[in-house]
Amino acid sequence: MQSPTSSQQQDQEKKLAAATALHWVKDGMQVGLGSGSTAAYFISLLGEAMGAGQLRVQAVATSLVSEALARQAGIPLFEPRKGTRLDLTVDGADELDADLRLIKGGGGALLREKILATASRHVLILADSSKVVPQLGRFPLPLEVVPFALPWVLDTLEKLQANSVLRSDRQNPTEPARTDQGNVLVDCHFNQFPDPAQLARQLEAIPGVVEHGLFLGVAHTALVAQGEQVLVYKPGEAPRNIAEFTELP
Ligand code: 5RP
Repeated sequence: MQSPTSSQQQDQEKKLAAATALHWVKDGMQVGLGSGSTAAYFISLLGEAMGAGQLRVQAVATSLVSEALARQAGIPLFEPRKGTRLDLTVDGADELDADLRLIKGGGGALLREKILATASRHVLILADSSKVVPQLGRFPLPLEVVPFALPWVLDTLEKLQANSVLRSDRQNPTEPARTDQGNVLVDCHFNQFPDPAQLARQLEAIPGVVEHGLFLGVAHTALVAQGEQVLVYKPGEAPRNIAEFTELP
């Protein structure tokens, strides 16, 4: 169990990362909006900045929840078309390592998150300091699975020693949680996996696994708030203080 103080600190750090990200949103951008509590802080701050006339952007959201938050915040949403490249997607993460490899999908939005990240020129990840790990795998790795395929997917995961658990609906725990696409979620407790790329390939080869929560080579930058300071992570580089940057890193 987390102490209230550390969860309050995490919340402060999430807000700080979100406020910092706002400086990198430019007028006229098409922006991808992430999901989860950190992304929600960003959506609300972006809405405030737009309401104050400081910015005009159009957005696409990675979940129905974030779409609703964006509407409430007064952020105009648009339908992507063939050829649409988003200027910037801002999202959270469940874990990140020094190479900016991520585990995402704690909130169940991994499929749309990966779709928008892949359709973006720049993917900016916001995180509190608890999300940085030396090696991915402590956080259960989520998979989005077509319900029809579930028994066979679970069989294959057993062979991979995934210790998989079907995620339950929060409101109705006897029912499985459903994604925005109507699929189910399986959380894999590998504890650690030394080769995330190999694991990603193994998971992609299972029929019925629509998406997994490993985001490898997807994020360009992460802003990690640690206490009062914000560190900028780039793949394979030592973290640097935000004060060193005037442009989107
Ligand atoms: C949702 C996600 C979120 O970005 C991730 O779970 C982080 O959430 P939070 O900002 O609430 O810690 O991947 O699918």
